Order: sequence, then C-alpha cells, then structure tokens
Amino acid sequence: MIAILIDNHNESNYRLHMKPLLSSISVALAGVLLSGAAPAQDKVVNIYSSRHYQTDEALYSGFTKKTGIKVNRIEAGEDALIERIRNEGARSPADVMITVDAGRLWRAEQMGLFQPVNSDLLESRIPESFREPAGQWFGFSMRARVIAYNKSKVQPGEVETYEQLADPKWKGRVCMRSSTNIYNLSLMGALIDHLGADKAEAWAKAVRANLAQEPKGGDTDQLKAVAAGQCDVTVSNQYYYARLARSQKPDERQVAERIGIVFPNQQTWGTHVNISGAGVLKHAPHRAAAVQFLEYLASDEAQRYFAEGNNEWPVVASVKLDNPVLNALGEFKRDRLNVAVLGKNQPNSQKIYDRVAWK
Ligand SMILES: [Fe+2]
Repeated sequence: MIAILIDNHNESNYRLHMKPLLSSISVALAGVLLSGAAPAQDKVVNIYSSRHYQTDEALYSGFTKKTGIKVNRIEAGEDALIERIRNEGARSPADVMITVDAGRLWRAEQMGLFQPVNSDLLESRIPESFREPAGQWFGFSMRARVIAYNKSKVQPGEVETYEQLADPKWKGRVCMRSSTNIYNLSLMGALIDHLGADKAEAWAKAVRANLAQEPKGGDTDQLKAVAAGQCDVTVSNQYYYARLARSQKPDERQVAERIGIVFPNQQTWGTHVNISGAGVLKHAPHRAAAVQFLEYLASDEAQRYFAEGNNEWPVVASVKLDNPVLNALGEFKRDRLNVAVLGKNQPNSQKIYDRVAWK
C-alpha cells in the first residue's frame, strides 16, 4: 500500500505558510488512500509530485472524470522525491514524477529514473524547446527568470539584460541567491550556451563583485531585500513576484508595489525560461495510464489548472490564463534554447560559480 509523505517546498517563505496546511492534508489523504479495495491494474496511476497547489484538486479530479483512472499521490520536496524513487528502485509504485526546473528533471534522467514516451499528442501540443528530445520528460508550465528592481532607485530601461547586471555601475546594488540553487544553475546553463563559457564566467565574476550582501535566502527574500532598499536589483522567478502581488497580506502586496519587473534580453536571445515538468518512470507499474496522464496535462483544461496553481504560463500557447498579475506583465520574447541544455550544462555551471566564489 502507498504511504503518504508530504514535505515542504524548498522555499523558506513557502514552507512557513504551507507546512501546517500540508500536514493536515497528509492525514486526510492517507485516509482516502488506505480505505477501499485495491483498484484494478489499469484504473489507477501513482503520481509522485513536488508540487502542491490549490488547483491540484481540480487537476486530478478532472483526469479521473475524463478517464475513470484513479489518482494516488505522494507529495514531497523536490530532492526528497528523487531520492525516494531512486531508493525504491524496481519495486517503486511510482508511475509519474512531477517536479520543477529542467535542471532537476535532468538530474533524475541522469539517474536513469525515466523511460522515454512517444506521443504524437505531446509532441504536437508542447513546443519542442520544452521537451527532452528523447521524450524522457516534458514541460507543462513555463516560468521566467526576470529582473526585479526598486522603482524608487532605478529608472525603467536602466537594466534590460542579464549581461548589464555585470556593469560596475551596479556595484553594491545587486542581490542574488546562492549558486547551489537550481534556478541560478539553469540560468548559468543558458548564459554558457549564449555567451560561451569564458564570457559566462566573466559575467558571474562581475555580478559577484556587484553584490550588496552575501548570497542568502530564496527568491522571495531577494524581492523583499530590493523592496526594502537593501539592494536595487535582483533576479527572481516571476511567480514569486506574482504571489506577493496577489497576497492577502497588505505588507506583501506593498513589497510587490515597490518593484518593477523586466523581461531581460528582449533585443537578443530572449528571457531565460524554465519549466515545471513530468515524466513516466522507468519501473512504472501502470505505464499506459501514466502516458494518458501526461497527455491530460497537455489538455486545455489541465494547462490552466497546472499553470494557474503557481502563477506560471501554460506551455500550450493557445491556452490563455485569467491571471491579472501575469497578464499585466504582458507578452515577452522567451529564450528558444531547449531546456534540456540547461541540464547538460549544469556541471559546468556549478564549476563556474565555484571558481568565482559566488557561494
Ligand atoms: Fe520555486
């Protein structure tokens, strides 16, 4: 029987808010899963996910309604989830793993956790740059790593590219999180591809020299530091900004109000984007149901739930969100680099950050 393990997201702010809620959900879910007879072989799919958002309920019940396939879920932190699947090995009940960042999906792929999926539907619905070329994993929502600035200290147009963050004019004015963080590793993976490793390293060295403080905290902490005037610019995934802007708490909305958002590199290679994604696991006991689930994630209905839950964008371009904050940010030119390259460059990215002592 499947046990439920619910862990926190690896963002410190998120953890503070969500942990009590998740604990109570884990108890409720365990009750649901442990009751009733074991479902027939093909009428169940076991999903291991590091996501947990309000829209997930609608997402999973939408799949069951459409296919008659029951969804069992295990939710855990990103790295704990991968570790768990690896430890379970060939006996793992997991059919599908859902997690965030191509760099992390790549790590799981390197461990041999996935099996390739050939699906005309997935190939036609999901843009090529959001799919692992051999079909090991697929992106189902898109996030952008944007530049955020303090509106009272920086004029619109003063910083328009990632490269400009290396300019000495920003000395003592930049906040950045740690280089061990997967988002910054993936950003470096893109910089290596577009600039070459030497220029990417020079960039990292110069940005490091511009830092107002030692790298610490998550993306939300960088945004709060910018709003509080501890530094003037940072980079962050856009959904952390959107969460603050849509918060029930006035002080969090105030943080967002003080911040301007830039989609970098609109005149060159486009804003660095990443994915939340999923793949079918190598030892999936319910392979057909697992593929059906991935195909469901690419449907119009699921695209909305999946993206909206975390203030991300659908990867299926024809699906439009009713998200006031994201819609206000407007359309932007995204990087067309295949996100699998971010994973392939990851070892080199870490070496570059280490060499410049980014921390
Ligand atoms: Fe995140």
